[in-house]
Amino acid sequence: GYLAATANAGQLTPAVDTQAAQTLTILYGSQTGNGHGVAKALADKAQAQGYAVNLASMGEYNVRQLKQETVLLLVVSTHGEGEAPDDAIELHKFLASKRAPKLDNLHYSVLALGDSSYEFFCQTGKDFDARLAALGAKSLLPLIECDVDYETAASQWHAEVLNSVKPLIQASSANVVSIGAVKTTQVNEFTKQNPYLAEVLVSQKITGNGSDRDVRHVEIDLGESGLTYQVGDALGVWFSNNEVLVDEVLAALSLAADEIVTLGSQSLTLKQALLNNKELTQLYPGLVKAWADLSGNVELLALSEDKEQVRHFILKHQFADLVAQYPLVNGANTLSATKLLELLRPLTPRLYSIASSQSEVETEVHLTVALVEDERHGAARFGGASHFLASAAEGTQVKVYVEPNKHFRLPENPATPVIMVGPGTGVAPFRAFMQERVAQGVQADSWLFFGNPHFEQDFLYQTEWQQHLKNGDLSRIDVAFSRDQAHKIYVQHRIKEQAKTLWQWLENGAHLYICGDAERMAKDVHQALIEVAIEVGGLDIGAAEAYFDTLRSDKRYQKDVY
Ligand code: 2AM
Repeated sequence: GYLAATANAGQLTPAVDTQAAQTLTILYGSQTGNGHGVAKALADKAQAQGYAVNLASMGEYNVRQLKQETVLLLVVSTHGEGEAPDDAIELHKFLASKRAPKLDNLHYSVLALGDSSYEFFCQTGKDFDARLAALGAKSLLPLIECDVDYETAASQWHAEVLNSVKPLIQASSANVVSIGAVKTTQVNEFTKQNPYLAEVLVSQKITGNGSDRDVRHVEIDLGESGLTYQVGDALGVWFSNNEVLVDEVLAALSLAADEIVTLGSQSLTLKQALLNNKELTQLYPGLVKAWADLSGNVELLALSEDKEQVRHFILKHQFADLVAQYPLVNGANTLSATKLLELLRPLTPRLYSIASSQSEVETEVHLTVALVEDERHGAARFGGASHFLASAAEGTQVKVYVEPNKHFRLPENPATPVIMVGPGTGVAPFRAFMQERVAQGVQADSWLFFGNPHFEQDFLYQTEWQQHLKNGDLSRIDVAFSRDQAHKIYVQHRIKEQAKTLWQWLENGAHLYICGDAERMAKDVHQALIEVAIEVGGLDIGAAEAYFDTLRSDKRYQKDVY
């Protein structure tokens, strides 16, 4: 989206003659809608103050325009191990390349979105900040690093950054566009902050008895909401924490469940706040540090000083574990309810790749949910949203919204062959893809790679794939059951086995999709693809990387990984 930058500002300040010089350029790069949301809100406020604004995705931005910019405001998230989101990759690479121009006349500010539970927190934002400075651009504000609860920091940035551009760019009443007028037609009226109260229709275990995994097929009724989604989109799910867990925390801290507390403008009981408003199942480094200070525990204090150890710790522990293992020595009652609520982060919804197509299921939305479960000193620990969904009886109410994912779309030309790599719950969007292609009557090749521990218990949606094969809607499926033999077999091994055919498919224009684990699987699969290009395609390593870079910029290689 390009927002109107129509004012002829040159007339106001004749010294500056290009339109770019009078325009605030706001670029966002983000895998989910968060980055766009923050950038869009800034654009709205800037326009309301009279600035001419150019708001665009980094993926749509023409890098040759950089030299003409006066003020560049960036919002960018970070993924996996410090990687740039897809729409930011090109600009990120360009700024690090020899082609990048000197930017002495540029003023900039970067807001980085990230998750402090990851090692490379806000890395892409840090990269942009450092590169722009190295090219001579002047920083308006120190880099803003936002954690998952980014909303407050983002609106603070909006105010500060607009203040700091005042001396640089002329605002004009001619530019003022009322915020209502800027808004493009909203397809869905329900959003993250204003979710739809839906009902669970089905939550059914689809892994067999004795499986190492507990995977649920969940169906949710969107009722009269009018909510629409496209295949490839995700569903945002708000959840309540497990009551057993909340009671455990209250007991461990000797706090009363019915104490009245305030959150924002809301008055509610402490128990309600912990059930619905606070994150209990995901720790963050700041909380480990704060707890170390509060408890004065020597072991925890030492651990909290070591970033690597903290990162490891928060993957394996929840707040309740912290409280149980490192009790407050001065007596639990030294921690007030207010202080507890200050320590805990706000609860944030979880995103699930949608496993259905509305062409098939109409007002329903289906999810494939792996129950995250663990045991600590005899106490069961669960993932917040997965446990909520896994234990949801029919009729349970759940607040949801659609998170569009324009980076994971079926080919525009329906005749295009597709290769889908989706081990584990990564298979979810491919169930949606197949439903969509069947409903559209698409006659084109499709190939699924699926993997999971055991054939007997873990072949998710097995009968559906068989039906698609039988009907000729799915051309082929290659499965990797990792634990059915002495050595591990993964999807990437199947890809290597089928190297020749796979290469042919790619050369014939197939689109390639990967969904599932980002940290190991998606990387190993990428490596296998590089090897296919080298061994069958005869490319050297550089050319092989470039081959998949091109596929990615042509939108023929898309990932939905987490
Ligand atoms: P494992 O748990 O037996 O090691 C879905 O989780 C499937 O992905 C499982 O069969 C799992 O095997 C497998 N898996 C684990 N690590 C993987 C990797 N690096 N690449 C591909 N698949 C992997």
